[in-house]
Amino acid sequence: MISLFSNLITLSRLLFKLIRYNIVSPISFFQNYPFIGKLALKTSFLRDRSFDNHNWGERLVYCFIALGPSFIKFGQALATRADIIGGDNALALTQLQDNLTPFSFEQAERIISSDFNCGIENLFSHFEKKPIAAASIAQVHFARLVDGTDVAVKILRPNIEELFERDVKLLFWLAELLERFFPATRRLRLVDVIEVFSTSIKLELDLRMEASAGSELADNFSEDTDFKVPKVYWDYTSQRVLTIEKITGCRPDNRQELKRMNLDPRQLVKKSTRIFFNQVFRDGFFHGDMHPGNVFILEDGRIAPVDFGIMGRLDMATRVFLAKMLIGFLTKDYHSVAKLHFKARYISEDQSVETFAQACRSIGEPILNRPLAEISLANLLSQLFRITKQFEMEIQPQLLLLQKTMLVAEGAGRQLDPTVNIWELAQPMIRDWMVKTQLQKIPLQSLSVELPELINRLPSLFENLEIALENLAKKGIAVEHQKELLNKKKNKKRRRIKRIFFSLVIILMLSGYYVMN
Ligand SMILES: Nc1ncnc2c1ncn2[C@@H]1O[C@H](COP(=O)(O)OP(=O)(O)O)[C@@H](O)[C@H]1O
Ligand SMILES: [Mg+2]
Repeated sequence: MISLFSNLITLSRLLFKLIRYNIVSPISFFQNYPFIGKLALKTSFLRDRSFDNHNWGERLVYCFIALGPSFIKFGQALATRADIIGGDNALALTQLQDNLTPFSFEQAERIISSDFNCGIENLFSHFEKKPIAAASIAQVHFARLVDGTDVAVKILRPNIEELFERDVKLLFWLAELLERFFPATRRLRLVDVIEVFSTSIKLELDLRMEASAGSELADNFSEDTDFKVPKVYWDYTSQRVLTIEKITGCRPDNRQELKRMNLDPRQLVKKSTRIFFNQVFRDGFFHGDMHPGNVFILEDGRIAPVDFGIMGRLDMATRVFLAKMLIGFLTKDYHSVAKLHFKARYISEDQSVETFAQACRSIGEPILNRPLAEISLANLLSQLFRITKQFEMEIQPQLLLLQKTMLVAEGAGRQLDPTVNIWELAQPMIRDWMVKTQLQKIPLQSLSVELPELINRLPSLFENLEIALENLAKKGIAVEHQKELLNKKKNKKRRRIKRIFFSLVIILMLSGYYVMN
């Protein structure tokens, strides 16, 4: 009963904000439902007119900020889903800043003491009471370990797990409701979107996973003198506390400071491009949140990342596919790009290779005919993912994350030096990597090369099997169709339920509005 009550309060708060920032009524999909239109009209007095001159994407950003931590994170996740909310809105969501009011030092102290079963003074000889950053999931304090090492300590927000659980439950419930009452929304697979979001959030809520990601990245780059991944202090790390080496440097977008440090921006872009492509192709493990706030440039020119909460993984098959696809585009060999998608079974055989090649040309030509410095890899990928949707291809969330990361990396690179282009730099790297990978595949060269590769691919083979089984299950679509015919009869009843539901919603919203004022 209590949870139902809190769900209703959360729901009314959500609906109130959706109206305040005018989020629902401009969605063209709902314009097919006159009832919603009328409802929007009736509630328009709750709308905050001062946001009227902002576009929908910007209003969505304000709305997510007003809704708090879970929704800020959800908005950031949606930023990778241009296929759902459109390219411009996805771009607006990438601006979603994650700054929140900090929680108190006393609360931070309580969390540390409870996780380590001892007083904070037993762990740290000094602890800065004021955090240097406070975001939706955690905040970061500088401190000094008892042995004198300077560290950064990230601490989860108090009760954040419960808050996310409550909000994610509500999002699931809403997505299910939409899919049930508005079958046309099923195409967007909202329940799956929230499933992916919920899984990634659960990982972010365990800082040991972040510590683990940081230490894996450090291992991958242990030989690289240009990339400094901060050391993880495992003895000072728990589910709610992460302690890593403190990094001193400047942000990559601070041009003045870089000039003072006498660092060549061109060299920095070159270095960071090499590092990025090594993460993607060589390791298949990349930092998925490389905005300028998460990167430091050290005095000696080394690049240091922080924040390993969002990482992407690409298996070997996907990396080879990606490399071949990018090279195919670059050489304007659209037919081979198209064939690649079919060979990888990303697109089903009942679609036409020729038509898909034609669609690839339609996105490749306008992008690739520009001067090299203006070509955007991220733009190419986002356009490609848009058309692959039309060909009923499901895009792996990891590739969507890669596309968003590329977008951020390209932007950061362009800011540092607009004359260098990561396309230009990436090309020889991708080719070299391909040559190396192909060489490894020469039969008889050595089984010891092929066998680990096969073992590596086993999980993805199982995954493919799973997909095949799923597809088989989808063949039951005919049965589904029959069911829909039967459902038509029930539609009348549904409409009545819808009306009752929306009336309830109005009552809830109004009560929410009065409670909050
Ligand atoms: N090891 C570190 N050294 C110096 N500053 C750090 C370190 N780790 C984090 N920070 C600072 O704290 C901010 C927030 O940390 P981050 O791990 O990015 O948290 P969030 O996941 O909330 O973005 C970073 O943007 C950076 O300015
Ligand atoms: Mg960060």
